Amino acid sequence: MKPVVAIDGPAGSGKGTLARMIASHFSFVYLDTGLLYRTVAFLNAPLTELKDIRKLLDITAKLTEEQLRSPENSARASDIAKNPEVRDIMTHLQRDFIQLYNEKGVVLDGRDIGTVVVPDACCKLFVTADLKERAKRRFADLKNENTTFDEVYNNMKLRDAQDKSRKIAPLTCDKTYIVIDTTGQSVQESFKICREEVKKAFVNSGYGSFV
Ligand code: DC
Repeated sequence: MKPVVAIDGPAGSGKGTLARMIASHFSFVYLDTGLLYRTVAFLNAPLTELKDIRKLLDITAKLTEEQLRSPENSARASDIAKNPEVRDIMTHLQRDFIQLYNEKGVVLDGRDIGTVVVPDACCKLFVTADLKERAKRRFADLKNENTTFDEVYNNMKLRDAQDKSRKIAPLTCDKTYIVIDTTGQSVQESFKICREEVKKAFVNSGYGSFV
């Protein structure tokens, strides 16, 4: 079994970008678990159809950024993420993904990766930033003329509240996480900090050969 890196944090914190960079640096496989929730929200498919992680990844790959990341679908994803049946199925599918790639090393990012999906991950990062800065980043990413900054900001504020307050698997971190606050940092600065933290965690958990 190769190392698993769990990265959690709120929307727009930079966790996806950093997770991708960490995966590429260590030649690990990356899974954006938020995209899976977004696909399920967009499809509105019966839960019984969600059995195979490969199938779900194929469907996700066929949807556009616009379809998945629109403010409407973001709100829908946060909504369905409150459903215990959805969460249970998604947790199993994410664990299947880890099994599938356990010879390569895996980086997953989301809201409950280190608390529920892989609590024994050898490295857990909680990536966060100011709400205003996160909304600015998301607004710049969207490139959608029909969406205003205020809409993105309010949508994100609501999602933060929903993700943190839901009864099952809320967005939270404890002392098993290393907190990375990316407010005011460049991507390269944050990446350097994360990379060093991941290396330290690998050494501490007996995965020193990966450093
Ligand atoms: O990371 P994201 O913004 O793309 O995630 C979209 C929504 O999916 C988010 O509002 C909450 C939900 N989500 C979750 O509940 N658990 C995860 N592991 C990932 C995402």
